Amino acid sequence: MRLTVLSLLTLSLAASAAVVTRSAQKIGYDPGCSKLTDAFQIKSLNSTPADARPGDELTVDIVGTATKIIDNGTTLSVSVNSANNVHIFTKNFDFCSEAKKGNFNIQCPVQPGDVHFTHTFNLPSIIPASHYLLDVTGSTQDKTSFLCANLDVDFSS
Ligand SMILES: *[C@@H]1O[C@H](CO)[C@@H](O)[C@H](O)[C@H]1NC(C)=O
Repeated sequence: MRLTVLSLLTLSLAASAAVVTRSAQKIGYDPGCSKLTDAFQIKSLNSTPADARPGDELTVDIVGTATKIIDNGTTLSVSVNSANNVHIFTKNFDFCSEAKKGNFNIQCPVQPGDVHFTHTFNLPSIIPASHYLLDVTGSTQDKTSFLCANLDVDFSS
């Protein structure tokens, strides 16, 4: 999904302090928290270019499977933590509203089956140099689990 999710996150991060000019950006993805009962099963998550820097255009590519219809009422929650797991902030999103604004290449209702999700956005030009752990969770229109992913976003070097 993610995503305008990521662009809003990086914008929020940019609202903090510290100017960094030589930060490389990497996203690691750990599906460990996902469950077979999740409505969306992520198969792969990649971002390009691999060495994007603040201000660059970043494309996030997610390939996965929707195990049932995903429709209005589906929410996404992104919790941003420091590398040593201190909570920084949480943002909640209405998935279908974000899609409707044109932020995603897919629209609700998302039908069961393979989903190739792409989102391109510009990273903010200022991102505090650090390493961030993002916990992405959500619930569907019927309040069952939408997805779960842990992202490791490295802006530290
Ligand atoms: C979902 O919301 C959109 C507008 O927000 C509406 O047009 C559509 O009918 C809704 N779908 C359902 C199944 O309620």
